[in-house]
Amino acid sequence: MKNQVVVLFWLLSLSIPLALAQTRGGQPPPRRYHRLPLGPNAVGPESVAFDCQGRGPYVGVSDGRILRWENPQVGWTEFAVTSPYSFSYNQAELMGGRFIFRTGRCHGLNNSPMEQYCGRPLGLKFNSTTCELYIADSSFGLLRVGRHGGVAVPLANSAEGVPFRFLNALDLDIEGGAVYFTDTSSYFNRWNFQRAMSTGDRSGRLMRYDLVTGTITVLLRGLSFANGVALSKNKDFVLVAETMTSQVTRLWLTGPRAGVSEVFLHLYGHPDNINRNADGDFWIAQNPYPPIKVDEYGRVLEALSGDEIVDSSDVIEIRNTLWIGSVVQNYLVFTT
Ligand SMILES: *[C@@H]1O[C@H](CO)[C@@H](O)[C@H](O)[C@H]1NC(C)=O
Repeated sequence: MKNQVVVLFWLLSLSIPLALAQTRGGQPPPRRYHRLPLGPNAVGPESVAFDCQGRGPYVGVSDGRILRWENPQVGWTEFAVTSPYSFSYNQAELMGGRFIFRTGRCHGLNNSPMEQYCGRPLGLKFNSTTCELYIADSSFGLLRVGRHGGVAVPLANSAEGVPFRFLNALDLDIEGGAVYFTDTSSYFNRWNFQRAMSTGDRSGRLMRYDLVTGTITVLLRGLSFANGVALSKNKDFVLVAETMTSQVTRLWLTGPRAGVSEVFLHLYGHPDNINRNADGDFWIAQNPYPPIKVDEYGRVLEALSGDEIVDSSDVIEIRNTLWIGSVVQNYLVFTT
């Protein structure tokens, strides 16, 4: 198995120049890369978000906390948690007047089965009107927390009677009042992700949660390690990353092909999160290669520097600044 993987990566590495050669149009702007460390005991900022006032970045880390960057003087503060247990355990600290987790059993946890208890917030998106934060948590399902943070409130933890096992990513249709989200597997928990990969599990689902009715519709099932989700700018289709088949799948939502799904893009790497920018293009994080930006036709517009980005799970673009998360590092990368 190990040798096969090595050969696979070697074959894939031959194809990198092809990916770069596909880059279309004029020269992308030169980017400079910087690191923003998360500070002690915080790792794995899988996804990145900014709130309705442009504050942030916010990141979910591997011990279940959602942190917010304030400024260079204050650094990171603890904004929210997804686990009610993490909260009650830390009430003593709360009564002391500060919302801290330093002595909690969850604090500093990384990649441990204990995350079933402590939470692992993977997907983060704000409703830019209300400033409420939606969270896809691999342990606690779909949740929401208000603008002041605290303990997130669960919205759903199963669909069609099948419990969520490994919620991973989400995108919002803010005006339409809907959340599109993925469950990577119906069998394997996140901390057991290597089993989900090595067994060829195909129990991933793409779903839509309707805010008004509170109902969940399963849009696609049988996905291979369902991961990132992104709605198109016009909301006529939704993309979903299938990590283990190195594929991004498109599901049409409106128009003559509504309900039809098709291959949107084959990648050389394994895709992770997908985010749309203001132009309607998509940033796709992939491993072991650097992220790429593609347009609505899947044409590659830009590839980031592989020298500067060693592992990436998420790329968001805010006024031409990129913020890049990683499920294993203890820093964010940002560009100027
Ligand atoms: C966002 O907030 C607006 C205003 O309250 C609401 O109409 C809309 O349904 C919300 N959408 C989501 C996805 O929360």
